[in-house]
This record gives sequence, structure tokens and C-alpha cells, in this order.
Amino acid sequence: MDRRSFLTSSFAAGAASSGMAQGAGEAAENSADAIGKARFPDGLLWGAATSAFQVEGAWSADGKGESIWDRYAHTPGKIADGADGDVTCDQYHRYRSDVALMKRMHLKSYRFSISWPRVLPNGAGAVNQKGLDHYRRLADALHEAGIRPFCTLYHWDLPQALEDKGGWPNRDLAGWFADYAALLAKHLGDRITVWAPFNMPWFFTYHGYGDGRTAPGRKSYADFWKAAHTVALAHGQAFRAIKAASSRATIGCACEHEPVVAKSESDANRAAAARYDAFHNMFFITAAMRGAYPQPYVGQKERDLMGFKPGDEKTMQVALDWIGAHYYLRLRIADAGAPAPDGIDPLAGTRVDMPGQGWEVHPQAFHDMLMRLTREFDSPIIEITETGVDYPSDRPMSAQLHDAVRIDWYKQHLAAMSQAIGEGARVRAYHAWTLIDNLEWRDGFSKRMGLNYVDFKTQKRTMKDSARWYARVAATGRLDV
Ligand code: BGC
Repeated sequence: MDRRSFLTSSFAAGAASSGMAQGAGEAAENSADAIGKARFPDGLLWGAATSAFQVEGAWSADGKGESIWDRYAHTPGKIADGADGDVTCDQYHRYRSDVALMKRMHLKSYRFSISWPRVLPNGAGAVNQKGLDHYRRLADALHEAGIRPFCTLYHWDLPQALEDKGGWPNRDLAGWFADYAALLAKHLGDRITVWAPFNMPWFFTYHGYGDGRTAPGRKSYADFWKAAHTVALAHGQAFRAIKAASSRATIGCACEHEPVVAKSESDANRAAAARYDAFHNMFFITAAMRGAYPQPYVGQKERDLMGFKPGDEKTMQVALDWIGAHYYLRLRIADAGAPAPDGIDPLAGTRVDMPGQGWEVHPQAFHDMLMRLTREFDSPIIEITETGVDYPSDRPMSAQLHDAVRIDWYKQHLAAMSQAIGEGARVRAYHAWTLIDNLEWRDGFSKRMGLNYVDFKTQKRTMKDSARWYARVAATGRLDV
């Protein structure tokens, strides 16, 4: 995902208009003492995350259908350096050795996603048995290694056949998604009990259909509103379908929660920050947990655009068994001038205005995010579905293997998590993003966020220092190892 370039370009625009200097980020970091003292509950599941399009490759193998990301990546000029997901880390064929790698790292949870078009090449109808069998074997291999399978049903790779039927703005997709969810729960529910229907819904609805920055690359805010509502309905319908098919299923979300601060205390900046927060952090989780969109953020105009029908509140509302949250950084938001009165871009009038280059290190914000979820949702069980950092990847392999900066980033953030746990946050699992270097969406292979280095020519995985360190953390529950 191009979070960094998104923020950097927003930042560049902001800096240009405000005359701000692009200095180093303000840091509120934990001391060596706090890191040494950090402790975690016995039984906390240390894990790592990936997604199908980013690691599987085998894009057309064994009957898999085309996804919108396959189509997008095969369109010249869409992905950096002309990269595509045809092979990427080839995990489809190498899952056994990747599971062995996780075992060596003492990991206890693996968050992966299922490719919808691998299982249902047309999105609905005929099932591709070979695709289903792949995930059965993956789950079995994980169990054999003592690792819990955590399955995301949708990490952005919509079957192209469903995009051809209108994509997420077509409300019918909610039903097709629920059928897909039921199918997975029926066939894999004996092996997989932890399910998250969607990864970061705001991102793929807003950028996929609103501003067109990611697949399928459509640009219409009216379509964004429809897509967002279909996804909220699909989430509720899938929740019920999974529960009906598998009595052992536990279901949560995998949303991004990035604390938002106003650039300054001016009323305009505070209002912009509140608006950004309501959209970026609260929109989909509120839809699920409360059966309503944040008010007055979503008014009658937006409900009309969505095609909101009586009874939709009930469809959207579900009692999630746990809350899954990604954290990467906090966001500093500024007012960008009054949006046009008839404008329907949900982020109009707001601007990301970061100090530095967009990856501010501010672990306190991770702590605050955990405490906010704990307060607002009545002390739920929390799964950290992703956290991680992108440091410059344009260095020789030898330099990339010695990634002290990444270790420091994790230390800082895990110390903040330990503090939040001490204050009552019920964190059950932590997934680092990401297990292995992989295809970073529009940025192609130009960003290496993995704990393990991948040579994309030979597919050899090599542990970075961060992987060795994280393995010791997973084995001992201590950060000063
Ligand atoms: C996405 C990942 C992505 C990561 C890093 C996450 O929010 O879920 O797919 O690779 O950000 O940008």
C-alpha cells in the first residue's frame, strides 16, 4: 500500500502551501529502561501478517480467476517499475517453507488472506476445488507447526468478474461476499476459527472508487459512497453467514486506527482533524458495532448517495467477538479550506500535514489508540492485525539485513503496547507487518517491509536482524533480548 507516498505527497502539498519546513518528526519515545521493563501476558500470540496478492504469486495457476489487482498490475504504468503480482514471493508453492520459517521464529499466529478469485474464479458460482485445497493445506501446515491460522477474507483482490458487474458500488456484492464467506466457513471452519471479513475498508473503497489511486482505479465519489455502504452491509451479512456455517468461528475486523491530531488548536484544524478521524478510524467500526455511521458526518445527502434502505442498520450491526486494529503512525491533520457545498469527497477540507517524511515515530500514539478502543468499545479483546515500518529499501542486501532502525521501531511500539496492557487493554495477539518482503501494492518491490529478506530472483528468504530479534521476543516475551 502506498501509505508513505500518499502521506508524503499530501505533506509536500501541505508544506508548499504552508511554507513549513520538512524537518525531523517530533518524537515521544520510550527510554531503554521502559523497554527493558516491558512485559507481556503469558499466552500473548506473537505473529506476523501478509496478504494473498502481496505474497502468493501463482496468479493464474490451478484455475485461479483474475482479480482487480491482477488487471491493474498488468496495465502499464500502474505499478512502480512495471512490477506485478504474477510471482511475487511464490508463497502459493512455498507455503511449507514459509511456515517452517515462522516456526523457527517461534510465531504463534499467522494472519494471511484468502484470494477470493482463487476459490471462486468468477466471484460466485463454480468453486475451484484446487484453490480451496490450498488453504486447507496451509491451515494444516500451520496447525502442525503450532501456529494459529488467522484468515482475512478480503485483502483488496476482488474477482475481476465482479468488478465487471459493477464492483463494490453494486449492492449485490454484499450477498455474493456473504456466499463466499459461508463457503469458506463451511469448508475450512474445522481448521480456521479466527476470521476478519475485510482489511482496511476505508482504503479500498476510497482509493479504489473515489480518488482512483488504487485498483480498480475508478474516480467517482458517488461510487465511493455506494461502495462503502455495500461493504458495511457485506460485513454484517458475512458475519452471520460464517457464524451459521461454523459454530467455532470468532469474527472481528481488521481496520486501521491511526490517532489523529490537529495541526494546531485552531477551530478549523480541530474540525478537520475530527472529520478525518471519523472517516479514517471510526467509519466502518461504528457501522459494525453500532449499526450506524458516525453522525453528523454521514447526513441525509450521503445516505441518499449510498442508497441506504430501512433495515440496513440492522444488517450492518454485529457483535464482533474481538476488534482487530492496524497501527502504523499517527496523523496530523490540517484544515484545507472549506469544501464545496455540493462536494461529496469525504476527505474534502482536510489535509494530511506531517512533519518529516510521513513516518513519524510516536509510539505514545499506539498506546493511545489501544486505550481509545478499550474505552469506546467496553474493553474488547484486541488483536493487533498489523504494525510495521517502511525504512529506505534502496540499499544493498547486506545493509538491509542489518535493520537496527526497524528493531528500534518495534521496541518502541511494543513498549507502548505493554504500557497499554498494564492499563487494561486486552491485547490477545500482535502481528508484525510483515513476515517477508513482498509486493507493496502500487510501490511494487521498491519497499521492503519484511522481517525476512526475499531475493525475488531466487526466492531465497534470509532473516534480517529484526527477524532474529523478533524471534527472541516471541520466545521470551521480553524486548531487551
Ligand atoms: C495494508 C498492507 C500494506 C501495509 C503497508 C497495510 O495497511 O493492509 O497490505 O502492505 O499497510 O503499507
